[in-house]
Amino acid sequence: MRFLTSLLAIALAAACAPPAVGPGAAGRTSRIAFPFDWEFRGLDPIGTGSQGMVATADARATRVGLDILQAGGNAVDAAVAVGFALAVVLPSAGNLGGGGFAVLRQANGEVASLDFREMAPLQAVPERFRDAEGIPTDATRVGHLAVGVPGTVAGLAELHASYGSLPWEDLVAPAIDLAENGFTVTESLHRGLAAKASILTQFDATRQTFYPGGEAPRVGSSFRQPALAGTLREIAAQGKDAFYSGRIADLIVQEMRRGDGLITHEDLRRYRANWRDPIVFDYRSHTIISMPPPSSGGVTLAEALNILEGFNLRELGFNTPDAIHLLVESFRRAFADRNYYLGDPDYVEIPIDRLTSDQYAAELRATISRSRASSSDEFNRVPVLSEGFNTTHYSIVDSQGNAVALTYTLNSSYGSGVVVDRAGFFLNNELDDFTVRAGYANQFGLVQSDANLIGPGRRPLSAMTPTIVVSPEGQLRLVTGSPGGPRIITAVAQTIINVIDYGMDVRTAVDAPRIHHQLLPDEIEIERNGMDNSTLSVLAGFGHRFTSTGEYFGNIQLIIREPNGTLYGASDPRREDGRALGY
Ligand code: DON
Repeated sequence: MRFLTSLLAIALAAACAPPAVGPGAAGRTSRIAFPFDWEFRGLDPIGTGSQGMVATADARATRVGLDILQAGGNAVDAAVAVGFALAVVLPSAGNLGGGGFAVLRQANGEVASLDFREMAPLQAVPERFRDAEGIPTDATRVGHLAVGVPGTVAGLAELHASYGSLPWEDLVAPAIDLAENGFTVTESLHRGLAAKASILTQFDATRQTFYPGGEAPRVGSSFRQPALAGTLREIAAQGKDAFYSGRIADLIVQEMRRGDGLITHEDLRRYRANWRDPIVFDYRSHTIISMPPPSSGGVTLAEALNILEGFNLRELGFNTPDAIHLLVESFRRAFADRNYYLGDPDYVEIPIDRLTSDQYAAELRATISRSRASSSDEFNRVPVLSEGFNTTHYSIVDSQGNAVALTYTLNSSYGSGVVVDRAGFFLNNELDDFTVRAGYANQFGLVQSDANLIGPGRRPLSAMTPTIVVSPEGQLRLVTGSPGGPRIITAVAQTIINVIDYGMDVRTAVDAPRIHHQLLPDEIEIERNGMDNSTLSVLAGFGHRFTSTGEYFGNIQLIIREPNGTLYGASDPRREDGRALGY
């Protein structure tokens, strides 16, 4: 039977038209055809289960989460344990020295979202990040000055205090084990560290910790992190205080003094994770729950999907020029508002209700021509003066039906590049997500307004979009999220559309090629071999411009729940170490 199934899969792949009726398909299907040379054709494993499901960017972290669920832990317990485990096995993005966001839905329908985003240190005034002429420098990208006050440990502790059921130490223990006893180095860990060696080895503690013997750890060797194990043991014993006021706080402040970093004891003591009201909106009778500011994810997703709701994408067909055109025009308009209005809600007034309203979406929809590309100049309100990333997302559902979508990050791969000496973990470079000066692009090419201006105690605007979808019948339907900077928002939107509009199964919805548009630059970004020439030329005829860096976008972790309770999980094949496992 298995042989027959794989034969069938190969035959379908060869026909380059994977079915949309596999596990997790919505029942209503639309013809799905991928471009001829598209790499991902539904052959990677999926997770199946009836009790619980964990999908993360690293198979060992997925296993940690599944063990916690099987030991009787709930989805939040598993999320805490996975958060710590990824900090060990995925040092480019999993972290103690970064921050993130979690969206939760309890089995009883209660929803919540936690903001554990980094904060700018009290001394982080804009002038520190500009040169004598007032032009932004690269100080927000590499080194000590780029580091925001980390939120991850406070976030995981807050999740546990509010919703956890197992003892805290039991949730940190698997990470301590991985750090102390080591784990096998994968291709991608080796490749990632080797590629960034020239930047990372300039920092002593980074070189000593991650380049033993002067080189990136070899594929297949065992990699131990004793200093990190010690840090985790203190966090297990003393909770978040170990990090924000104990020995680890001392080590962070000492590390700051080694460079020109700004974080003080006071900054660390003041840090809080904040519960915020999630962004909740309807899309084709489904309820979508996503992250509010200081992430732009939920508002931008809502604005784009609200515009798209007025078009019959299913009838237009997946990846047809007409459908792609409408996606692009919706993303363009949503990003214009994102870049202009959004910032830290504790410091700026944001018209969230208006931006996410159906009436506003209708006004924007009326400005879209069906056959002519708009120009971003018509929508952009931030004057433009000038023109290797990593984050990680995981999705978890437990046997009660509680769900957690959590995305956290160091911003760039390995963040600022700075490891805290004797504490063994990387610090973020999240200050680059701020506007250093309005009109100047950050590393993602985002041109943002003063609403997101760097300033003491502020949280930088994010694109992270952990998202949960509830079916028209009020049942959990899907849990998803991704890394990718601004491409997170468009990847999450397209994954939701793939399931709801096109009826794709869990694997096809994740494998399908993605496009991206973020207002500026005014061009459609396409993935490697992600669009047929015929589609491209129709879109060019509409007036669209294109760019491709030859890369793939995002690393979606998707869980779909069927009405009968069956769970399907798929980890994005675009990055190799991920895995979804259920039971
Ligand atoms: O919060 C944000 O939007 C960025 N710091 C996320 C960076 C990211 O996703 C890089 N990943 N590939």
